[in-house]
Amino acid sequence: MNALNRTWDKLISQKIKETKDSGSRWRPAFHIAPPVGWLNDPNGLCQYKGIYHAFYQYSPFDEKGGLKFWAHCTSRDMLHWKLEGVPLVPDQPYDCHGVYSGSAVIEDEHMYLYYTGNVKEAGAYDYINQGRQANTVRAVSYDGIHFERKELLLTNGDYPMDLTCHVRDPKVWKKNGRWYMVQGARTKEDQGEVLLFTSGDGVKWFCTHRLKSPKAFGYMWECPDLYEVDGYTVLSISPQGVEADGFRYNNVYQSVTTFLDSDFRITSVNGSFRELDGGFDFYAPQTFETEDGRRIEIGWMGMADVDEFYTNRTVEDGWQHVLTLPRELSVKDGVLCQNPIRELDAYWTKEQPFKNDFAGSLGKAFEIELPDLNKLGENVKITLAEHLWLTWNSREQIFRMEFQDNLLGSGRTMRGREITRLTDMRVIVDASCVEVFLNGGKDVFSTRFYPEGEEIGVTVNAPGAAGRLRA
Ligand code: FRU
Repeated sequence: MNALNRTWDKLISQKIKETKDSGSRWRPAFHIAPPVGWLNDPNGLCQYKGIYHAFYQYSPFDEKGGLKFWAHCTSRDMLHWKLEGVPLVPDQPYDCHGVYSGSAVIEDEHMYLYYTGNVKEAGAYDYINQGRQANTVRAVSYDGIHFERKELLLTNGDYPMDLTCHVRDPKVWKKNGRWYMVQGARTKEDQGEVLLFTSGDGVKWFCTHRLKSPKAFGYMWECPDLYEVDGYTVLSISPQGVEADGFRYNNVYQSVTTFLDSDFRITSVNGSFRELDGGFDFYAPQTFETEDGRRIEIGWMGMADVDEFYTNRTVEDGWQHVLTLPRELSVKDGVLCQNPIRELDAYWTKEQPFKNDFAGSLGKAFEIELPDLNKLGENVKITLAEHLWLTWNSREQIFRMEFQDNLLGSGRTMRGREITRLTDMRVIVDASCVEVFLNGGKDVFSTRFYPEGEEIGVTVNAPGAAGRLRA
């Protein structure tokens, strides 16, 4: 630890200590949330010597965001998380304006963290190729807790000449002895793309491919990920600048996936992308492979730049945003599916079956499961805390996630998706987090909500259906 690092450490610990008990009313039980301050992207997800590690973009001093650090949590089941500290701080000339997003690789008992060292310089850094350094940096840990030896690997001059200075968010992995890395980028013609690099040692990198859509799709692709699931190669990106199109792309920024061929080209004929989540709060997802071979995804359950539309009420309590529940990925019928990690089944301690309908309360953390809606005639309607409605009916064939009040502002009223047949549904609620998994995880909707009181009122109306409630 250098002197600057020690100073940050002291200031952050002090801030966390001072505000230790603040904001319990909307604090989730099993979702990762910051102790105080602002959280955004999940970073450095991995399993190291059996333990799960999750880092996140963290601004400890301001719940509305600011200078970015990496906070660090560990877990044995991805549901009970322990905050280990804030190991990556902006303490170098090449990362002094933010330790931006990145990833982890386990190699020879070491945990390597790759991230973007952000440096803002004079100039219009958001538009042209000046005014921002996008440095690729690596730090190493020998025990998964202490990080040291930051190395500057790439600087602006190492990226293709026709890009703006928006190049960031290295996602690194190893396959058959070779290292690979993707980074998100914005061209000078304002088109988003992904750079694919390869390396023999994880230090010297060569850009081998530039992944683009046949037609421009937004001006910047943030937080890319590239991985294999059930024999498919998946590209996941978080594009900015995509226009809303009916029910699609209704949030400020989007997160989408598409499949690639063996030469990393987008295989779908029109380059079409599929939104990972149809709700209000989902961005910048990252995946990792568990030691037992599962591909797990965690997203930021939040959204940047929403201030003109709505406010997340936890700012009243000095903190903002959470990460999603970890999701297991699979491909079914050619569709990438996301389902809650299987560990969640063992988390619940109470279970109660129901038929047709239910009205009551299950506390603050619970699950509503409707596993077989196939034979169901007309509709499903779930109301949470009286103001959040989840509905589907066979006439309209649209699933809706809808706020019945306008308390949260005009940007947060309704999200929907055409779903011709609803076969099953799981709704997971954790204090202020709602995640809905439909049709075996083919469609997912996530949102934050801010129920008042000690319990969350629930009504379920699903004529003809049998289900179970767990808490
Ligand atoms: C995505 C993002 C990343 C960047 C990070 C900074 O939300 O903008 O591109 O690395 O957040 O916090």
